[in-house]
Amino acid sequence: MSEFLQGWKRTDYCTNFSLDDVGRDVTLMGWVQTRRDFGALIFVDLRDRTGLMQVVFDESVLEGDFSRVSSLRSEFVIAVKGRIVRRDEETVNEKLPTGYIEVKARELKILSRSQTPPFEIEDDTAVREDLRLKYRYLDLRRPTMQRNLLMRSKIAFAAREYLINNGFLDIETPMLTKSTPEGARDYLVPSRIHQGCFYALPQSPQTLKQILMISGFDRYFQIVKCFRDEDLRADRQPEFTQIDLEMSFVDVDDVITMNEGLIAHIFKQVMGIDVKLPLKRLSYKEAMDRYGSDKPDTRFGLELVNVSDIVADSGFQVFSSVVKNGGSVRAINAKGSVEKFARREIDALVDFVKIYGAKGMAWISMKEDGIQSPITKFFTDEEMDRLLKRLDAQTGDIIFFVGDKDKVVYDSLGNLRLKLAEKLGLIDESVFDLLWVVDFPQFEYSEEEKRFVAMHHPFTCPKDEDVDKLETDPGSVYAKAYDIVLNGNEIGGGSIRIHTTELQERMLKALGHSKESAWENFGFLLEALKFGAPPHGGLAFGLDRLAMLLLGCSSIRDVIAFPKVQNASCLMTNAPSRVEPKQLRELGIKIIE
Ligand code: AMO
Ligand code: AMP
Repeated sequence: MSEFLQGWKRTDYCTNFSLDDVGRDVTLMGWVQTRRDFGALIFVDLRDRTGLMQVVFDESVLEGDFSRVSSLRSEFVIAVKGRIVRRDEETVNEKLPTGYIEVKARELKILSRSQTPPFEIEDDTAVREDLRLKYRYLDLRRPTMQRNLLMRSKIAFAAREYLINNGFLDIETPMLTKSTPEGARDYLVPSRIHQGCFYALPQSPQTLKQILMISGFDRYFQIVKCFRDEDLRADRQPEFTQIDLEMSFVDVDDVITMNEGLIAHIFKQVMGIDVKLPLKRLSYKEAMDRYGSDKPDTRFGLELVNVSDIVADSGFQVFSSVVKNGGSVRAINAKGSVEKFARREIDALVDFVKIYGAKGMAWISMKEDGIQSPITKFFTDEEMDRLLKRLDAQTGDIIFFVGDKDKVVYDSLGNLRLKLAEKLGLIDESVFDLLWVVDFPQFEYSEEEKRFVAMHHPFTCPKDEDVDKLETDPGSVYAKAYDIVLNGNEIGGGSIRIHTTELQERMLKALGHSKESAWENFGFLLEALKFGAPPHGGLAFGLDRLAMLLLGCSSIRDVIAFPKVQNASCLMTNAPSRVEPKQLRELGIKIIE
């Protein structure tokens, strides 16, 4: 039978001891990790969230029925009273922080029994993720998961500490709200009282934090859940957490400086790492041109090189026509990779870039015994000389070329760059590469919707000098927007906002909203902007992503206690699930089967 505490009180966590504690009487509580049975002597590794402590049950010392000790199984919850003693020389375990001591048990209380768990509570077991997620409470007992959530808590605390110390107010905004477009589909919540009407769960507190600036709060922050119904990836969840902030009377540099301070504080507090400030800044254009990505990983080179001018008039039709049609031809020199990539691997890389829309990928292999390539035959000696010179090509290199519309070239080579770095082992995992990308275009053209869409969001302020081009040449308007990037991942983004009704209306119009639809969707903001809105701006960090990268996890799920899987369901609770017909009737909802 399991028991309640009945006056037993825990005195310590399992590992908060040193040799100075020898001789102290303690009461520990936790889970049985392992039991090694030698008859009259039984060793139990007791685990709590801090780690393991070896408990020795000696029949001649333990009070009460000794057979209870042999009945202990993995994951039983027990309480032990005993004395800290020094281990014999030969039983010292140097791997454990508490490996020089153990607890000699005098009393044992079994608080709770456990079925045999479906997997061992250990870090190095190859357990399928779906099983881990179904039994998430057991999975979370693993030391790595305990550490991850502890570190995540530290990150959130450090963020709060910094922001409060800098005069930010923690203000909550509603979860049941009106759609705020961040480019994803909304999660909708039906209203019982207003049948046929829906709340949207916030994709972010964007418009509400702007309204808090209009209300005069001056500096706002919130560690807040955001909801986006979009395809899941390793770094994306349908509900995720932002460190969200907004400031009044600021320009781009003010927001950037404040956030550099914040990220540096987090790095220092959580990782003990000094971040060198100011962080480097790349313009969007430079990021794309050099790295083919607006979230470049600059821990390694393999930069893109534009060779459009050299191949524009060449005999290689594919390249010359791409350039004539306004596209470009760019290349990456994978230095010293000839030995690493056989023909078969090169073909696999060609297939890889096709995922990103490339129609092909040409290459030049600078072999010891001469150049190998499917395309050199099309070039004159002079063109070849210029190409090899610009690409700094030397024996041992392989050069990869993609020609297409810029977007396809950037996407293909940007991703090839990451793939090559991984395959060639060029990434120093011990480095944290933080940088800003600034000077984003205001819009990007959506081929799908045949219109301009906001690159950041519709409330982002255009650069002063570009405002006049909103109607005439939206494609050349730049925004007061900035992203912060860590190791090739976007960990945060923000902007200076529009703070007049007039400009906000023009922006919504440029995005294809009629006046009616603008007012219907964003009337509350357009109205509020009429009543004395201060210039303002802000940013939101993705807390989950930041935690994932700081902890070196490969999936965002490893830093979230109860994450969703690929199809947006929770394997532990089985959400989403069907509801009672009565609930649907109350909401006025009928399910079409
Ligand atoms: P944005 O949409 O760029 O900006 O989001 C800010 C940061 O949140 C993280 N993030 C996500 N993390 C996990 N799963 C997701 N599905 C997901 N989507 C975004 C990213 C991203 O950089 N309101 C604006 C901020 C602002 O302008 O102040 C916003 O939400 O790390
Ligand atoms: P082809 O003339 O189609 O046999 O192509 C010759 C070489 O050019 C092959 O290695 C193709 O992979 C490559 N290639 C084809 N289209 C492109 C493109 N758009 N960009 C770069 N290389 C290409």
